[in-house]
This record gives sequence, structure tokens and C-alpha cells, in this order.
Amino acid sequence: MKNFLLSIFILVVFLPGGLQAQEEERQEIIEEVKPRNNECLECHGQDEYTYFNEQLGRDVKAQMCEDYIVSEEEYYQANHFSFACVDCHSSGFKEYPHPAEARFEQVYSCTDCHGFSESDKKYQFSQIEESYKESVHHKKLEDEFSCWSCHDPHTYAITARESDNIKDIVSYNNSMCLDCHSDVEKFEMLSGEKENVFKHHEWLPNQNLHFNNVRCIECHTEVDKDVLVAHKVQPKEEAVQKCVECHSENTLLLSTLYKYKVKENRQENGFYNGVILNESYVIGASRNEYLNVISIVLFFIALGGILVHSLLRYFYVKK
Ligand code: HEC
Ligand code: HEC
Ligand code: HEC
Ligand code: HEC
Ligand code: HEC
Ligand code: HEC
Ligand code: HEC
Repeated sequence: MKNFLLSIFILVVFLPGGLQAQEEERQEIIEEVKPRNNECLECHGQDEYTYFNEQLGRDVKAQMCEDYIVSEEEYYQANHFSFACVDCHSSGFKEYPHPAEARFEQVYSCTDCHGFSESDKKYQFSQIEESYKESVHHKKLEDEFSCWSCHDPHTYAITARESDNIKDIVSYNNSMCLDCHSDVEKFEMLSGEKENVFKHHEWLPNQNLHFNNVRCIECHTEVDKDVLVAHKVQPKEEAVQKCVECHSENTLLLSTLYKYKVKENRQENGFYNGVILNESYVIGASRNEYLNVISIVLFFIALGGILVHSLLRYFYVKK
């Protein structure tokens, strides 16, 4: 009991304090890096920019192409919020018009920086890289595709590992794929074909409901027990199409979307009550606990009815 009260005390008093300190530290870092980034965001932060036109001898306003806009708000919420633009980009970009050499800069890959520190261990960069090399994107598109194609360098923020909200995780993860697969022009530029991803899933009933509740990767990547987010995207022939993979007691979702929660909850609540029942109701995957409870309640009401009935009869008959 003493321990219990102590831990409540610690939770109430120190945890918010710790989080606040973390947030303050984050804000400090942002304030430090902001002035340097503003030199770039002054043009790249919105859809309009101004530059000095030497021929005309005056400032000229122009339209910034949509693909070159970096949202300041999302940037400072992303994983790499502490970076100055020129930490990744050539310092040649400080000049405008940007010089040609800067445009041919070499971009870093994730594993140029990651996978060496103790705190990176849990992300398993090298395993992920291996799976990626086996994926359909790498095999078909090679150098035209990279980790950055899905992980937007300016907005990527870890979600599945941090969030408790399945809907948020699904919507963030699917937006990473749909960014391309529902953008006809972007997709055509890479594959040379026009595509309508929604048309290819017409066989799936209630497509919207499914796309809001399961991730693309649930059906399109090979299950990987060792990492949190499997990265081996398979050719379409290998995709999950069988309804029972999810709509059954031993659902696929336990080894993919609910994986993290399964580990956390397994000891506490028993394997599957803790995970699926609290989150959502997937037909066939969850035994309906409510129905069980209702039937027990009905049983006792009936029993009570019989009892009262018999008692009344007993007393009346006695008279
Ligand atoms: C005066 C406005 C202006 C400023 C300041 C500016 N840029 Fe740009 N930048 C542009 C425009 C316009 C384009 C797209 C057309 C072009 O390349 O000229 C661009 C293109 C780029 C590209 C894409 C190049 C390519 O061809 O793929 C990168 C990367 C870039 N800028 C980074 C930066 C960085 C980093 C900074 C800050 C150090 C910066 N820019 C500052 C206007 C600006
Ligand atoms: C963590 C490294 C990193 C940081 C920090 C970074 N960038 Fe980038 N940026 C990249 C990479 C990598 C690409 C190329 C993406 C690709 O090839 O898909 C890129 C592409 C761009 C482009 C070209 C548009 C595009 O999508 O190809 C612009 C413009 C740009 N960055 C501006 C900025 C500005 C402005 C900042 C600072 C606010 C910034 N970047 C900070 C890594 C970074
Ligand atoms: C230029 C070096 C560099 C590159 C390239 C880079 N990162 Fe990072 N990344 C960092 C640094 C530095 C941090 C901040 C680490 C910290 O907060 O302690 C970070 C943070 C992260 C985090 C959050 C870590 C945490 O525990 O908060 C993730 C996840 C991540 N990066 C993934 C990636 C991925 C995926 C790529 C490639 C698409 C990538 N990074 C490319 C340097 C880099
Ligand atoms: C086809 C799209 C795609 C490609 C390509 C891709 N990733 Fe990912 N990656 C994802 C998705 C989706 C997530 C889950 C994001 C989330 O919810 O945090 C993720 C998450 C991650 C994470 C965080 C996992 C965790 O434990 O929290 C790391 C690290 C990572 N990817 C590294 C890489 C590296 C390195 C590459 C290139 C070798 C790469 N990714 C290429 C889609 C992709
Ligand atoms: C940068 C754009 C881009 C992103 C982001 C992207 N893809 Fe792709 N994807 C492509 C292109 C282009 C192809 C076609 C390759 C070809 O056939 O030439 C492709 C092919 C595929 C295929 C194989 C289709 C077949 O013909 O077998 C699947 C499955 C797939 N993607 C799923 C995903 C999933 C799941 C995600 C998110 C985790 C994702 N993609 C993210 C561009 C993208
Ligand atoms: C319930 C499982 C499931 C989900 C969820 C799912 N897919 Fe599919 N997907 C499939 C199957 C099965 C096929 C093969 C259909 C066929 O061959 O007719 C397919 C086909 C595809 C193709 C190939 C289309 C073609 O024929 O060229 C792409 C690309 C694709 N899916 C991307 C996605 C993306 C992006 C998402 C997330 C928004 C997603 N899928 C969600 C099962 C799924
Ligand atoms: C990747 C896992 C997965 C696959 C494969 C899958 N489903 Fe689902 N399905 C779900 C999830 C998750 C829900 C949403 C449950 C909820 O309402 O929260 C759902 C919802 C549904 C619903 C709607 C239930 C309602 O409440 O309205 C129907 C009907 C359905 N699925 C039928 C199918 C059929 C038929 C197939 C095979 C063609 C299929 N599903 C394949 C995971 C899957």
C-alpha cells in the first residue's frame, strides 16, 4: 500500500514536471535554430516569395512551387526539429538564385547518421534497411526511390511507437503511402503509369472504413516479428486478400498494428482481451463480451422472475 501511494505521489508530482522540462528543452532548441532557418523559410515557408531582380533593379514577387514549400509548423514537430536546413542541405543554398552545384548535392541516407548510438538500437535501422532492399519499391525503382520517399525529410514524426490512438497511427501511416499512390502526377512521374489505388481495392467491402482502420502495410508487407514496423513491401500478388486473416480469432492485426500493445498488455489482461476489446470491434476477431454479459444478466432476471413467482404462489396457496 505504501509503495502504491508512493508511486501515485511520484506520478502526480514528478511526471508532469519531467514532461514540462522536456518541452522547455525542446522549445529552447527551436529558438536557437529558428533564426538560421528563417533565412530559408522566408521563401520556402509559404506559397509566395520575394527576391531582388538584378535586371529590373527592384524586388519581385513570385509563386513558390507547391513541392518546394516546407511547413514551419510541421517542421518543428518532426523528429529532426533540431536541425538547421543547411545541416542537411549544402550551404550553397544560402545564395539566391541557387547555384547549380548546390542542386547536385549528395543527400544523406538515414544510416549515414543512425544506427550507431545506444538510443538508436530500439529502431533497428540495419534490419529495416535490409527489408527495404527486398521491397518492391527498391527492386523496381532502385535509385529513384529511397527511405526519404516515404519519410518526408521535413515532416516525418514517429507515430506508431508513441501514439496510443490507433486511428491516428492508421491515418498517419496511410498518408505516407497515399501521398504518392493517390497523387496521379507524382505516381506517373515515377512509374510512367496512371493509377487509381481506390479502384484496385473495390473488392474490399466498405473500403473507406477499412482504410481508416487498417494500414496499407498490414496487407502489403511481410510480417516481421523482430521490428515494430515491417518494411518489406511485397508485389501485389502477395498482398493479403483473405478476409479471415483479420476477421478471425487469431487475427493478423495482433502481429502488426496491435503488436506494441500486445507486448504491453499481454501480462496484464491476458493475450487478447486487453488488446482488441478495448480498441475496436473487429467482426470475428473479438468474441462479443457484451453479448456474454447480457445473456448472463438475462439468465438471472429470468431466475429472479421464477423465484418471485414461486414465492408468491407459495404464500397465496398457503392462505
Ligand atoms: C529568395 C528566395 C529563396 C531563399 C532565401 C531560399 N530559397 Fe531555396 N529555392 C527558392 C526557389 C524559388 C526554388 C525553386 C526554383 C529554383 O530552384 O530556383 C528553390 C529551390 C530550392 C531547393 C531545391 C533545389 C532543386 O533543384 O532540387 C532546395 C533544396 C532549396 N531551395 C533549399 C534552400 C535552403 C536550404 C535555403 C536556405 C539556406 C534556401 N533554399 C533559401 C527560393 C529561395
Ligand atoms: C534531415 C535532413 C534535412 C533537413 C533538416 C532539411 N532537409 Fe530539405 N530535403 C532533405 C532531403 C533528403 C531532400 C530530398 C528529398 C527527396 O529526394 O525525396 C530535401 C528536399 C528539399 C527541397 C526540395 C523539395 C523536394 O521535396 O525535393 C527543399 C525546397 C528543401 N528540402 C528545403 C528545406 C528547408 C527550407 C529546410 C529547413 C527548414 C530543410 N529543407 C531541412 C533533407 C533535409
Ligand atoms: C544528418 C543526420 C541524420 C539523417 C540523414 C537522419 N537523421 Fe534521424 N535524427 C538525427 C538526429 C541528430 C536526431 C535527434 C536525436 C535525438 O533526439 O537524440 C534524429 C532523430 C530521429 C528519430 C527520433 C529519435 C528519437 O528517439 O526521438 C527518428 C525515428 C529518426 N531520426 C529517423 C530517421 C530516418 C528514418 C531517417 C531517414 C529517412 C533519418 N532519421 C535521417 C540525425 C539524422
Ligand atoms: C514504403 C514506405 C517506407 C519506406 C520506403 C521506408 N519506410 Fe520506414 N516507415 C514507414 C512507415 C509507414 C513507418 C511507421 C511510421 C510511424 O507510425 O511512426 C516507418 C517507420 C520507420 C522507423 C521507426 C520504427 C519504430 O520503431 O518506431 C524507422 C527507424 C524507419 N522507418 C526507418 C526506415 C529506413 C532506414 C528506411 C530506408 C532503408 C525506411 N524506413 C524506408 C514507411 C517506409
Ligand atoms: C514516392 C512515391 C511512393 C510512395 C510514398 C509509396 N509508393 Fe508504392 N509504389 C510507387 C510506385 C511508383 C510503384 C510502381 C512501381 C512499378 O511498378 O514500376 C509502387 C508500387 C507499389 C506496390 C506494388 C504494386 C505491384 O504492381 O505489384 C505496392 C503493393 C505498393 N507500392 C504499396 C505501397 C505502400 C504500402 C506504401 C506505404 C507504406 C507505398 N507503396 C508508398 C510509389 C510510391
Ligand atoms: C485488406 C487488405 C489491403 C489493404 C488494407 C490495402 N491493400 Fe492494396 N491491395 C490488396 C490486394 C489483395 C491487392 C491486389 C488486388 C488485385 O490484384 O486485384 C492490392 C493492390 C494494391 C496495389 C497494386 C495496384 C495495381 O494493380 O497496380 C497497390 C499500389 C496498393 N494495393 C496499394 C495500397 C495502399 C496505398 C493502401 C493503403 C491506402 C492499400 N493498398 C491497402 C490488399 C490491401
Ligand atoms: C487487414 C485486416 C482486414 C482484412 C484483410 C479485412 N478486414 Fe474487414 N475490417 C477490418 C477492420 C479493422 C475493420 C473495422 C472494424 C471497426 O469497425 O472498427 C473491418 C470492418 C469490416 C466490415 C464492416 C463492419 C461494420 O462494422 O460495418 C466488413 C463488412 C468487413 N470488414 C468485411 C471484410 C471482408 C468481406 C473482407 C475480405 C474481402 C475483409 N473485411 C478483410 C480488418 C480487415
